[in-house]
Amino acid sequence: MRRRPLIAGNWKMNGLIETAQELVEGIGAALSDRERERKLQCEVLVCPPFTAIHTVHQTVSSKGYSMKVGGQNMDVEGPGARTGEICGIMLRNVGCRYVILGHSERRQFFGETNEIVGKKVEAAFRDGLVPIVCVGEELKDREAGRTIDVIRPQLEAVMPRLPEEASKRSTLVVAYEPVWAIGTGKNATPEQVQEVHAFIRKFLTEKLGADTASKIRILYGGSMKPANAAGLLALEDVDGGLIGGAALKAQDFLAIIDANPASD
Ligand code: 13P
Repeated sequence: MRRRPLIAGNWKMNGLIETAQELVEGIGAALSDRERERKLQCEVLVCPPFTAIHTVHQTVSSKGYSMKVGGQNMDVEGPGARTGEICGIMLRNVGCRYVILGHSERRQFFGETNEIVGKKVEAAFRDGLVPIVCVGEELKDREAGRTIDVIRPQLEAVMPRLPEEASKRSTLVVAYEPVWAIGTGKNATPEQVQEVHAFIRKFLTEKLGADTASKIRILYGGSMKPANAAGLLALEDVDGGLIGGAALKAQDFLAIIDANPASD
């Protein structure tokens, strides 16, 4: 099954209005060139911080860039008395189509458990957003040979929260992000990545059936950069990337998009 690759930039807590605008214009204009030359065969997504989403989306839509916009997190509840939170409807309102959920930084610094991530997945689908669910092990887990033991419950918590309709379920995106590879410059080797991605595909096949599982995109994230992107993106069960640091430089992000095997 041919899946359309997704190259997604997670800007994390970076980007004031001016820099966000500059970045999205740098990426967008180059994407328009690639589109004209029919060289763009992947989906491109940027996930700015909340405060820059509106500006970025306005720029994307007014200039007609081939790019989608997403959030980096959302609350489990709908609108209401939840000081400091942002709900899915609000993300939709400013043009988001996707939302990253359960990023390891949310799990580590904000106490998000597998259960909370599961509830957020349900809320995202309810609010009309496609969740990108992040899973991944810490270095100590990998060293103890417990990688799959950590990832399995992270995925299990999401399964009962998925919508009934197979067509919606198959839009789910999973991102494998080994915590030890995030922002460290140490990316996982292609063998390590393919092994975990194959496990995730098998897990999804068992839970959701082969047809749905074959449509779900599984991204890799963790120090993906122009120098290693081609090798990672060519792997059988890797359907794109979730990129942090390298997504903050238009040239690097574009080089990763160009490294995608489907782009040539
Ligand atoms: P880096 O690409 O900076 O390692 O970050 C990866 C990540 O966390 C994307 O969500």
